[in-house]
Amino acid sequence: MTDTDTTTETDTTTDTDTTTETDTTTETDTTTDTGTTDPDTAGAGTAHPVAFPQDRTCPYQPPAAYDPLRAARPLARVTLFDGRPAWLVTGHATARRLLADQRLSSDRTRDGFPATSARLAAVRGRRTALLGVDDPEHRTQRRMVLPEFTLKRAAALRPRIRRIVDERLDAMVAQGPPTDLVTAFALPVPSMVICALLGVPYADHDFFEEQSRRLLRGPLPADAMDARDRLEEYLGELVDRKRASPGDGLLDDLVRRQLSEGGIDREQLISLAVILLVAGHETTANMISTGTYTLLTNPRSLAELRADPALLPGAVEELMRVLSIVDGLLRTAIEDIEVDGQTVRAGEALVFATSVINREESVYPDPDALDWHRPARHHVAFGFGIHQCLGQNLARAELEIALHALFERLPGLRLAAPAREIPFKPGDTIQGMLELPVTW
Ligand code: HEM
Repeated sequence: MTDTDTTTETDTTTDTDTTTETDTTTETDTTTDTGTTDPDTAGAGTAHPVAFPQDRTCPYQPPAAYDPLRAARPLARVTLFDGRPAWLVTGHATARRLLADQRLSSDRTRDGFPATSARLAAVRGRRTALLGVDDPEHRTQRRMVLPEFTLKRAAALRPRIRRIVDERLDAMVAQGPPTDLVTAFALPVPSMVICALLGVPYADHDFFEEQSRRLLRGPLPADAMDARDRLEEYLGELVDRKRASPGDGLLDDLVRRQLSEGGIDREQLISLAVILLVAGHETTANMISTGTYTLLTNPRSLAELRADPALLPGAVEELMRVLSIVDGLLRTAIEDIEVDGQTVRAGEALVFATSVINREESVYPDPDALDWHRPARHHVAFGFGIHQCLGQNLARAELEIALHALFERLPGLRLAAPAREIPFKPGDTIQGMLELPVTW
């Protein structure tokens, strides 16, 4: 069975693991105790809804403040950063059903569309390609780019990804320990890969990485607006240069096949380029850094993986589930919808808490434990339905290659600071390490 059975594509994912041993536990003391929660404090219609999102206290576990939400499935009421109420989707089956329901809109320009931070609220009125459009427009856009993101294309890119990973590791080794793994490895690897795929010059990485950072976690909402403007301006100029002299990246291909023939206009192409460039490096970088942190702080799980590299594809899936780094997918209901005995009214906001959904005990027994053998594939860390991550095959390939090469090449890899002192990102952003001091 494929994991994209409600989408128009069937070539992207296949289930890998079928065994279900659960004897491996997370080895830091950050696991949460769902047995002590009171569902009444989180259920729909309660007087004091939990605030969402909140900061994690461990980079790979939802905050303890979400415990009442973990006890309130499949829906809870929460309050967003601006005081607005929203439905928080917490149930696994309900989440997959709703994410595939066309009565939910992903159009950020709709009145009342939710935001989980002032930054997201600031850019809410702007058109966003793919993620910010509904069908049929979404389908048209997705079809334009899908051939570059199939499982087959990701497999063909593996040797190139391997070369990039090896180059970065060579540079790290040449420089010697200690180093910040985020700047030396976790960020440059996906940045170089997406640049090669799109045809964006990696020489400009300082600029676009900085703008992505301001867009996703700048200190002020105005930063997000300005960063988005600058990225659009930069990619607009790149598109114009490619019009005059096309190369061989995906953007060049879109200029040749779509822009020149009227399938897309310049503004839409720029919007597409922004989401592909930003989503293409920032998320994977966070997974590499937080995945490495998780492995280094769970030595038994790391040792098991080192002893049997064939576990790696399952381990990547399990890390995706446990880390759930994109924790809060946003939608608005465009019609009244009955959800497990509750009515979600047209115009109401829904937020999908992936970290909670991916820890439903009846689906993932002992859900806080890392278990490389469990069938984790049906997690929603890549979303689900028509907006399910376009880059998931590429991201899986990058994660497998990067983590395998990192631990193979540096067998003595360890944290160069106490685990609890290493800073990570706040809860209203994509989760990840701010830095990762390591030595070997
Ligand atoms: C491990 C890394 C990644 C994670 C955790 C991740 C996560 C996600 C999630 C959760 C969504 C769905 C959002 C929603 O439904 O609201 C999404 C969508 C998307 N992702 Fe990723 N992503 C990753 C890597 C990538 C990469 C490498 C690309 C490459 C370009 C990419 C491009 C996209 C795009 C374009 C969408 C919107 C798809 C659509 O609306 O049709 N992502 N991603």
